[in-house]
Amino acid sequence: MTGHSREPLIAPSILSADFARLAEETAAVHGADWLHVDVMDNHFVPNLTLGLPVVESLLKVTDIPMDCHLMIEDPARWAPPYAEAGAYNVTFHAEATDDPRAVARDIRAAGAKAGLSVKPGTAIEPYLEILRDFDTLLVMSVEPGFGGQKFIPEVLSKVTAVRRLVDSGDLTVVVEIDGGINDDTISAAAEAGVDCFVAGSAVYNAADPAEAVAALRRKAAAASAHLS
Ligand code: DX5
Ligand code: ZN
Repeated sequence: MTGHSREPLIAPSILSADFARLAEETAAVHGADWLHVDVMDNHFVPNLTLGLPVVESLLKVTDIPMDCHLMIEDPARWAPPYAEAGAYNVTFHAEATDDPRAVARDIRAAGAKAGLSVKPGTAIEPYLEILRDFDTLLVMSVEPGFGGQKFIPEVLSKVTAVRRLVDSGDLTVVVEIDGGINDDTISAAAEAGVDCFVAGSAVYNAADPAEAVAALRRKAAAASAHLS
């Protein structure tokens, strides 16, 4: 059985939600598979969002598994507490640490799945070996920092490369993509072999965010059906 025979996962990003109404905005995406929470520190990326106290509060108001995407420096220090708090998956950036394996080990020891993320310009080859120590790979398809940017299709070659290793049984990571995913771009990502699709503006700018999640899932499933 390959990753393609599973239902695609949709992870709405609350970066595009109204931060003054986060509990309601989380409820508005009921039926989502993961809730994607972008943590930015104004150092690793030129933007500042929210941190552990807000994540702890959000965990109390939702049952949707939380997917924390840490766009921060020094993940060795800051990532494990998100796992301890109860996040389902904690992803940090390969570019932010010299020892990604150690950070993954600490995240897993604290009870969460561990994710590695790469920016659009970061090659995946140097990380293929250590992906054995991760549960998820988050391929950024925009420069991290802001929602509403244009999808960069060139990153799909990284998805294809990792997909091949997953399908041959050499790796077991969930392949996730983040940035510019919408009705027009999700099919190409699904065909390349993405398992989990983050969508911010495409979900929260829709009149009915829960229906937007369902529609994205249908589109991804249709595009990847022939791959299974
Ligand atoms: C960007 C964030 C994304 C962002 C995606 O740095 O990591 O999760 O919310 O937003 P859209 O889907 O609008 O590109
Ligand atoms: Zn993100």
